[in-house]
Amino acid sequence: MNFYRRQFLQSAAALTLLPTVGQANGSELVAQRAVQQIAPQGYPETPVWTYGGSVPGTEIRLRQGDRVRRRLVNDLPQATTVHWHGIRIDNAMDGVPGLTQEAVEPGGTFEYDFVAPDAGTYWYHAHNRSMEQVARGLYGALIVEEADAPDVDQDLTLMLDDWRLDPETALIVDDFDNGHDLSHAGRLGNLVSVNGQFDPAYSVRTGERLRLRLINASNARIFDLALDGLKGRIVALDGMPLDNPLSIQKSFPLAPAQRADLIVDVQANSAEVAGLVSVERDGGFGVVRFPVSGHSEARRSGIVPLPANPMPQVNLEGAPSHRMTMQGGAMRWLEAAKIGETELSGRELAQLGRFWALSGYADRPEDPFLDAPLGGTHKIEFVNETAFPHAMHLHGHHFRLILPDGSLGPWRDTVLVERGQTRQIALVADNPGDWLLHCHMLGHAASGMMSWFRVT
Ligand code: C2O
Ligand code: CU
Ligand code: CU
Repeated sequence: MNFYRRQFLQSAAALTLLPTVGQANGSELVAQRAVQQIAPQGYPETPVWTYGGSVPGTEIRLRQGDRVRRRLVNDLPQATTVHWHGIRIDNAMDGVPGLTQEAVEPGGTFEYDFVAPDAGTYWYHAHNRSMEQVARGLYGALIVEEADAPDVDQDLTLMLDDWRLDPETALIVDDFDNGHDLSHAGRLGNLVSVNGQFDPAYSVRTGERLRLRLINASNARIFDLALDGLKGRIVALDGMPLDNPLSIQKSFPLAPAQRADLIVDVQANSAEVAGLVSVERDGGFGVVRFPVSGHSEARRSGIVPLPANPMPQVNLEGAPSHRMTMQGGAMRWLEAAKIGETELSGRELAQLGRFWALSGYADRPEDPFLDAPLGGTHKIEFVNETAFPHAMHLHGHHFRLILPDGSLGPWRDTVLVERGQTRQIALVADNPGDWLLHCHMLGHAASGMMSWFRVT
């Protein structure tokens, strides 16, 4: 696997500039097949599944508070839905088959229509057989602009993905249900792309200020990212502004589904190449290059926080606490867990392709994990008893991390819980409906790590 990565890294990829991303104002979002040059030039093109003919799908950009209306047209050979990840959305538009809508069959359509209440960096992706459909390319960026946006020279969306391609044919390896991946770290690939390209380049000038909107669309890869020739701060996580932007010392993690907005200044000199680096055990590799030519005259002051979104008040006092244990997987195999109300042995579960459980259930239970009256604050404790990290995601809400000292951390919609770790969050259940809660390692979700909560 690594061999293949190095092979790609050694081939001098041509310097190609991405075409400008279309501003989707059309009212259709067509889920359709396409072919695209994912592997470096010289390799064959890869057949992919797309929104609108390219991976990532057409970028959807709007102003905070605007309405998004898209008719999903399914031209794929499988049923599908669209989930608008991170949007505090009307429940009926959340795109979860069997919970908020029926999956849209091939040839069918569905009208998505919602308002985006918060500014920030979001994304949309398929939510039916997502471990396959997202891996085939069904994702795109959803950017909600602040009324009062920060002053930058370039605003770049960078969607990271991790592909498992056949080294000869560049075809997507279609072993999505592979039990080894499901029961271990998930589907890890052998080629990292940004905006659907291997090692893309964007030209910059010395002294320019960039806003980088990083989105991890991988099935399972947790990136550890570092800057080269750029200096700046993280100003938002999972779309939500940080009160105190974080300066980037060495590197920072980006788990599946997570986003980070960076504001950085180009420090590299003309004719040098700045970049974003994936830090690996054996060194690392660049995922995006920023060739520098010339310099910018603009003089800018410090990086200030983004304007806050209209978030609810978290009230921890008297907030009930709920514990969700993450169980199973390789090395901690399940002894037993339930599907519905039937208790099955670990062996029986494995035969059904279930390797994980959340608080004793290896599938979305019939009853919600949490039935919350509208408006209350709840503490949820994620206890990771497995030997792997998991990226726990709640639909329809952002939540605040509760830091070890009891104080409130950033707003997030996906939290990485390391092996053996316990993390607490504070959820203000203020969006009525039935909402999924699952691991965003998509193979883990498909093999047991799926639950839900209800707000009434
Ligand atoms: Cu981004 Cu339920 O997922
Ligand atoms: Cu989501
Ligand atoms: Cu997981």
